[in-house]
Amino acid sequence: MLDYQEALELMHAWTPSDSLRRHMYAVEAAMRAYARKFGTDEETWAITGLIHDFDWEKYPDTHPNKGAEHLEALGWPAEIVRAMRAHAPERSGVEPESLLERALYASDEITGLITAAVYVRPDRSIRTLTIKSLKKKFKDKSFARGVDRDMVRRGAELLGVDLWEHAAFVLEAMQADAERLGLAGETAGGA
Ligand SMILES: [Fe+2]
Repeated sequence: MLDYQEALELMHAWTPSDSLRRHMYAVEAAMRAYARKFGTDEETWAITGLIHDFDWEKYPDTHPNKGAEHLEALGWPAEIVRAMRAHAPERSGVEPESLLERALYASDEITGLITAAVYVRPDRSIRTLTIKSLKKKFKDKSFARGVDRDMVRRGAELLGVDLWEHAAFVLEAMQADAERLGLAGETAGGA
């Protein structure tokens, strides 16, 4: 049986950069919160969020396919491997279908928007970020151009939740994990 520690070690081994590690922690936090909300297996959901981009730094051209093949070779659960593929359907040809897959797809891009919004705050703290402020950033096309707004919208639709309820839910999950995400503010996040 796969355990969280094993997944964390694999992710760290393949992902040296703090920023990408933190992105995966953020998606993990969202997935944990959704697992609790839906009453499903929190460990599996957490690991799926934690691992979903683990091959990005090593194999950017073949992500997520290379990573998914590696997980398969290690004998990882098929539901996690498929979810990894389905979070990037344009690259893998696998569309998000199961609840786990849709939750991962929906959590991925919104965490990027939230993180980008925190980085431009004077206090650099996620705790003071509001949905009102996030909405403004979402509508501002010049802000965080790398965050695909259509993908953010599509994620909420796939999950069957209102976009801003989804955003508020993920924001709250990330706020609860602010230290680990490096989003607790200047003083707490510094040396
Ligand atoms: Fe991601």
